[in-house]
Amino acid sequence: MNNNVRPETMERITNEELAQQFIDEQIKAIQAQVQDHKVLLALSGGVDSSVVAALLIKAIGQNLVCVHVNHGLLRKGEPEQVIQVFRNEMNANLVYVDATNRFLDQLAGVADPEQKRKIIGKVFIDVFAEEASKLEGVKFLAQGTIYPDILESDGVKSHHNVGGLPEEFDFELVEPLKFLYKDEVRVVGKQLGLPDNMVYRQPFPGPGLGVRCIGAITRDRLEAVRESDAILREEFANYGLEDKVWQYFTAVPDFTSTGIKDGKRTDDWMVLIRAVNTTDAISATIEELPYELLKKLYERITNEVKGVNRVAYDISSKPKATIEYE
Ligand code: XMP
Repeated sequence: MNNNVRPETMERITNEELAQQFIDEQIKAIQAQVQDHKVLLALSGGVDSSVVAALLIKAIGQNLVCVHVNHGLLRKGEPEQVIQVFRNEMNANLVYVDATNRFLDQLAGVADPEQKRKIIGKVFIDVFAEEASKLEGVKFLAQGTIYPDILESDGVKSHHNVGGLPEEFDFELVEPLKFLYKDEVRVVGKQLGLPDNMVYRQPFPGPGLGVRCIGAITRDRLEAVRESDAILREEFANYGLEDKVWQYFTAVPDFTSTGIKDGKRTDDWMVLIRAVNTTDAISATIEELPYELLKKLYERITNEVKGVNRVAYDISSKPKATIEYE
């Protein structure tokens, strides 16, 4: 039997009862697999790794070691939420690594998108591997692989995830979600008590805000991306669009334009607003945002975000455009 094929008898997890049944079964399966060994998990704070963490905490408690690498490209409040939910509320064994300087130093001056992605992926693996090598008795690596990952690739989460750990890390994998679809992962996450804004969050690329700070990343422009994104998310929530729009974010290109503030000319950045709907991310259409919301975003972003004098709303579909800018 191919153990990468979802069993035909497996019922779709659509409600609390089925989610609890899945959780109870997985706790037993995880305990049987790992016994009293330690398990390592790269906890990004995304839906999949968060659900794996919550499940393993229930199954093996302190024997799960979560490593949260802050690459400096996370959204505002994300690292704090990971610490709050997992360390403070769930009492997880959480190693928090602020590697912001290391990432940003390596990325300095690099404008090519693929090069940026490669650097982010490589530094991530280096940092994670260094943390892993400090720990003793770790025999297993937990991964938030879900069924679409198996269907779409070779089953190992690509990109900045830990699929590419150095060979000396000879871990056995623990992948409790590998037969679940995304909607089922969310039902299970909810049942495990994770907060709604973690369970129902919009997709966020592995390289994070790095690909939204278009061109070579600088710290000040990265802050403009992070702050404008936080305002966008806040206003989407105020307008009831939070759960309605599939993906929404801001991006800041690497050029300035003339503006005027307090009677003086400015030379500042432009914030781009992107809000798209899709089912598969292969094609996408824009959400037609209310003009009142756009005006509010223009006012808040230009008033509150340092170094910004313009806001533009991108009305491009995919195709011709892609969802992200690079
Ligand atoms: P595009 O820009 O190709 O994006 O239309 C489609 C979806 O993929 C996400 N995306 C990424 N996710 N690593 C990721 O994990 C990446 O490098 C990456 N680039 C794009 C994007 O946010 C959208 O949901």
